[in-house]
Amino acid sequence: VVMTEAAQRFVTPLAAGALVGERVFTDLFDQAQEFDVGHIRLARECDLIIVAPATADLMAKAAHGLANDLASAVLLATDKRVLIAPAMNVRMWQHPATRRNVATLKHDGITIVEPDEGAMACGEFGPGRLPEPAAVMQAIEQALAAGPLAGQPDFEAEPAHRPLFGKHVLVTAGPTHEPIDPVRHIANRSSGKQGFAIAAAAARAGARVTLVSGPVALPTPPGVDRVDVETAREMAEAVRRALPADCAVMVAAVADWRTEDYAPEKMKKRGSAPPALRLTENPDILATVAVSDKRPRLVVGFAAETEKVVEHAQAKLKKKGCDWMVANEVGTDHNPAFGTDHNQVTLITRTNIESWPTSTKAEVAKNLVNRIVSYFEEGQKTHDTDHSNTNTKQAATGS
Ligand code: C5P
Repeated sequence: VVMTEAAQRFVTPLAAGALVGERVFTDLFDQAQEFDVGHIRLARECDLIIVAPATADLMAKAAHGLANDLASAVLLATDKRVLIAPAMNVRMWQHPATRRNVATLKHDGITIVEPDEGAMACGEFGPGRLPEPAAVMQAIEQALAAGPLAGQPDFEAEPAHRPLFGKHVLVTAGPTHEPIDPVRHIANRSSGKQGFAIAAAAARAGARVTLVSGPVALPTPPGVDRVDVETAREMAEAVRRALPADCAVMVAAVADWRTEDYAPEKMKKRGSAPPALRLTENPDILATVAVSDKRPRLVVGFAAETEKVVEHAQAKLKKKGCDWMVANEVGTDHNPAFGTDHNQVTLITRTNIESWPTSTKAEVAKNLVNRIVSYFEEGQKTHDTDHSNTNTKQAATGS
């Protein structure tokens, strides 16, 4: 345990030491401590470092490489994985300076365990609360499972459990909200669960993952770089910026239309006739990515259909120019999909149709990521483009 000055105002080193049954380190300039252990050894002789609770101040220091106390010096000297679990007032968390620091820390490979939302000690409400211990534990377990970082002695570039190491996977998820006026918007029932599960599974497989998400109420999976957007046009721009990628999995339920005339003031009820909304088409993000000069090698679309699922999805695969389409029936008693934890999907490639049994969205994500892994492994062996037919369970009938 390393405690900062501020931490010692809340908890004494004696109490922390008694709880963990270990020595507590507090002072960069304590000769006895430095002689015994030294901040470099502290930084190196651990499996990972977790900063919890992390203040805005400590994150600012870590983002800028300051090292004027023991905690920040250890963070600067380490070559191990670092997890940061922030806890601060909502305004401090949302301040542009903290946003910049979070982005810098993520860019440096540090995992942020996203804070919870709720009532704060100061009486305000919002994101910034220390994540629940179970969430911190889960992040620790995942970080440990991910193994050592580049530069560490036992680092293996491509261990079997990180088959997507070195690959960038771009995932879109959730709905988009298309504003009508400042208080109303067009939305859909997408919860984002399937897309978030895919992002999590890709990160667990070792990929660098960018998750572009519409408005959802879901925590960011560990190790995933998340970009929040609201409208289809914002999503299109965030996707453009995230490219190049090796694989794009477009799970978002992007609104096909937005209102042509956004009303800058709240629309009023006038007379008896309700106002007519004139709609205009949104950009098709998937189709744009599929023809872009930065086209990922594997482009996967999702097709939520209420009828003739496979037929419609096959037509979409061609029209949008993607490699695979994951089709699912939505809004039916058989497979409500939206908002639930289960899904029944059919994987359609250019040559095959494969129906998967109903399972959890996490299972669907794992299976899809396994298929993505095989795709890249096959491609590496043969340099061919579509090998999706090498491990199919059910061949297309062509009918
Ligand atoms: O045409 P439809 O909305 O059914 O197509 C679904 C697929 O296309 C999904 O992969 C979705 O993320 C993507 N899409 C998109 N941009 C749109 C509409 C759909 O990327 N404007």
